Parts: sequence; structure tokens; C-alpha cells
Amino acid sequence: MAQKVDFEKQIWPLVERSCVKCHKVPHEENGKTVKPKAALRLDGAWAIMAGSEDGAVLVKGKSAESSLFTRTALPKDDDEVMPPDGKADPLTPAEQELLKKWIDEGADFGGWVGNVVGKPKEVSNSGEKIPVSEIQELYKSLAEGLSPLKEEQWKAVTAAGGRVQTLSDTSPLLSADFRLVGKDADDADLATIAPIGANIADLNVSDTAVTDASMAVISKLERLVRLDLHGTQIGDAQLGALSGLKNLRYLNLYGTQVSDASLEKLKAMKSLTNLFLWESKVTEAGAKSLEKALPKARVSFK
Ligand code: HEC
Repeated sequence: MAQKVDFEKQIWPLVERSCVKCHKVPHEENGKTVKPKAALRLDGAWAIMAGSEDGAVLVKGKSAESSLFTRTALPKDDDEVMPPDGKADPLTPAEQELLKKWIDEGADFGGWVGNVVGKPKEVSNSGEKIPVSEIQELYKSLAEGLSPLKEEQWKAVTAAGGRVQTLSDTSPLLSADFRLVGKDADDADLATIAPIGANIADLNVSDTAVTDASMAVISKLERLVRLDLHGTQIGDAQLGALSGLKNLRYLNLYGTQVSDASLEKLKAMKSLTNLFLWESKVTEAGAKSLEKALPKARVSFK
């Protein structure tokens, strides 16, 4: 079987030789800051994926749509050929072919990362969007000024079958999860979280026996970001209590008793980014109207 082109071994040396002097991280030259041409950096995988001031230069799998390749394959007197005629060694036809093949094979950077100076936080080293980042930012701001708690402060929750964990080694925020006890967990068990409520960012009570009565406890969790109620008997009666949770992003109502009677209350939850409604009592038309009213949210209906 033919070997795939290896970016680091076969492509990077060409880019470094023929392109990078004009397309790299802003740097000082003779006391002046030199910026990359066309705002295009080719010195890091994320930067190649980010493209230029005009957008993408690389479309994985499509060399013909990738100016990163097409610009190198122009006649040498063309205004647009890269590198510009006489300014650096052009790619030989064999090298152009290799670059084309690498793109058509999917433009895999392998382990190569390159220069990450200037890389935005929202993209990974290989240029993929990090979708969790908005949530991570939110967790960070919610953690500010919040004191961490000690395990003994959630003894009662543990005794009631709930599992409490910190979101990370350094975060004072907590997740509380009653999923493992299932139907053995009821409203009284859930109420044990009240004393640590200010620190709870994630709550999972899916498939437990909690009822609408628990909304009184849940609605006080001011830092709640994710709430999973799926498979519970929660219905319309107290759902409106959640509208005070200004940080709530993820709400799972899959398999609950919630119906179109709650649409107006759900529409008021402008912070939501993910709302799950499969097998609830909400109708398809209801879900569609929610999608319109909550433009930031992905509404999963089936
Ligand atoms: C001597 C400097 C220089 C070198 C070397 C050079 N470029 Fe460029 N590059 C430019 C300039 C200037 C522009 C902006 C003007 C233009 O679009 O022609 C540009 C623009 C581009 C663009 C278009 C970006 C956009 O979307 O507008 C691509 C793609 C590109 N270069 C790729 C390369 C590649 C690949 C190499 C190496 C094979 C390379 N360049 C080598 C100076 C250089």
C-alpha cells in the first residue's frame, strides 16, 4: 500500500524553505514589527488552518479549493504565484505534487504542531474549534471569589447516595450526581445538596424519583450550568422556577412530563445552548417554536 504523505517529514521542510520567511509570527526586524503577508501564517498547524485575512487557504481533502496548493502551481510569471517569482525557491513539480497529495489525503498534520505563539484559546493546536471553550470560560468566571468546600461538607449528600466531585483539581465548583441510586433517590435525598448549593454547577438527577417539589431546591442553585432531569416525573407545574437560573446552558428534559404548557417558560431561558426534549410531552411544533425563540440553543427533539 502506498504510504500517506508525512507532513513533518515531507511538507514542512518545503514550507519552511519557500514560504515561512513571509508567512510567520509577527517579529522585529531592524526595529520594526514585520507582520505575516496577507495576515497568513504558515508556521503552525493551527495557523495554516486559520488561513489569511481573506479566509481559508486549506480545505482538507480538496487541493483544487486550497490556495495553499493552487498558488504554488501557477506559472512563474503569474502575479499570484507563491512564492513570488525570485523571492524564494519555488516548489518543483514533484514538490507541488506532494503538497497536492497531502491535501487530498486529508491534510493530516500528524503530531506536528509548529509555533503556537498567538494561537487563540478557542482553537486546538491542530486548528479545530474547541467547542467546550465558552462553557470553560463560564465555569472560570463562576469560580471567581468562590470558596472551595471540604468533603465533610457534603457527607449528607453522599449518605443519600449522591456523588459529589469537584469539576477539576483547582475548581471550587462541584458536580452532584444521583443517577447511580436511580429510583431510590427522592426529593428528600436531593434536598441534602442545599447547604452546598452555591458551589454546584452540574446536577444530574436523571432516572431518579424526584418530583416537581425538588424545583424549590434546584431553583436556588445560582451557579448551575448543566441540569439533567431526564427520565424523571418532572412536569410543567414548577418548571418556571428554573427561569431564575441565569447561567443554565444545558437542560435535559428527555422522557419527562414537560409539555407545550411550559413553552413560554422555556422561551424565557435565554441562556440555554442545549435543550433536550425527546420523548417529553412537547410537540414537534412546540419544539420548533422554541428553536426560534432561543437562537443560541440547539433543541434536540428526536
Ligand atoms: C517573499 C514573500 C513571500 C513568500 C516567500 C511567500 N509568500 Fe505567500 N504571499 C506573499 C504576499 C505579499 C501575499 C499577498 C499578496 C497576494 O495575495 O499575492 C501572499 C499571499 C499568499 C496567499 C494568499 C492568501 C489569501 O488568502 O489572500 C497564499 C495562499 C500564500 N501566500 C501561500 C504561500 C505559500 C504556500 C508559500 C510558499 C510555497 C508562500 N506563500 C511564499 C508573500 C510571500
